[in-house]
Amino acid sequence: MQQHIVSLPVIWFAALVLATLLCGSAARAKLLDQILRGYEIAANQGIPLNLKGKDWATVGLGSYLVNTTGCNDCHTHPNWTTTGNPYNGEPEQINTAEYLSGGRVFTTPAGMFTSANITPDKRDRPAGLTLAGFLEVMHTGHDPRDPPGDLLQVMSWPLYRWKTDSDLIAIYTYLQAIPSLPDNSNPGP
Ligand code: HEC
Repeated sequence: MQQHIVSLPVIWFAALVLATLLCGSAARAKLLDQILRGYEIAANQGIPLNLKGKDWATVGLGSYLVNTTGCNDCHTHPNWTTTGNPYNGEPEQINTAEYLSGGRVFTTPAGMFTSANITPDKRDRPAGLTLAGFLEVMHTGHDPRDPPGDLLQVMSWPLYRWKTDSDLIAIYTYLQAIPSLPDNSNPGP
């Protein structure tokens, strides 16, 4: 009996250590799953990635986040190739020729807004934004190059502001790895 009472805290401690270890490895496994899925999407859709000087895991996570978070819906116009529209029951093929180069026009009660080209510029800056500028856009909806108080419209920053900084950095890093494209020359709804 005495022995049992003494060993109780030991058992609790062991359980705590085990739970921590299991949780840690489950979280790592989940992250790895997302990184690999990010690469699976890029390979499946034929999106070339420039990994030079970039962290492999961060780019993979960024691909997972960008390609499953709706950026393509608004920032690629048209979204799909003529024979790759999943809404027509065709095998999904993203319009890689215009991938994330903007040009989708939204008509709202506040006016007309065109999604921006968020591919990297010649200095490897997505949408021409530094990481600090990108984080400001995603956290506040304000582009630091716009006049004070201006807020981006339509863009889903009120949702994205809740993403962790490490997720936003992964998104930025992925956008640095995709091909640089000129602004979409054929904007439309
Ligand atoms: C619902 C449509 C929509 C979605 C979804 C969306 N965007 Fe946007 N985004 C826009 C529009 C429209 C603009 C331009 C808004 C304006 O000019 O007021 C914009 C602007 C931006 C800008 C600012 C660019 C600049 O030059 O000022 C960045 C950066 C950006 N989006 C990144 C993203 C990323 C990354 C995602 C996915 C995580 C995303 N957007 C998802 C519609 C969207």
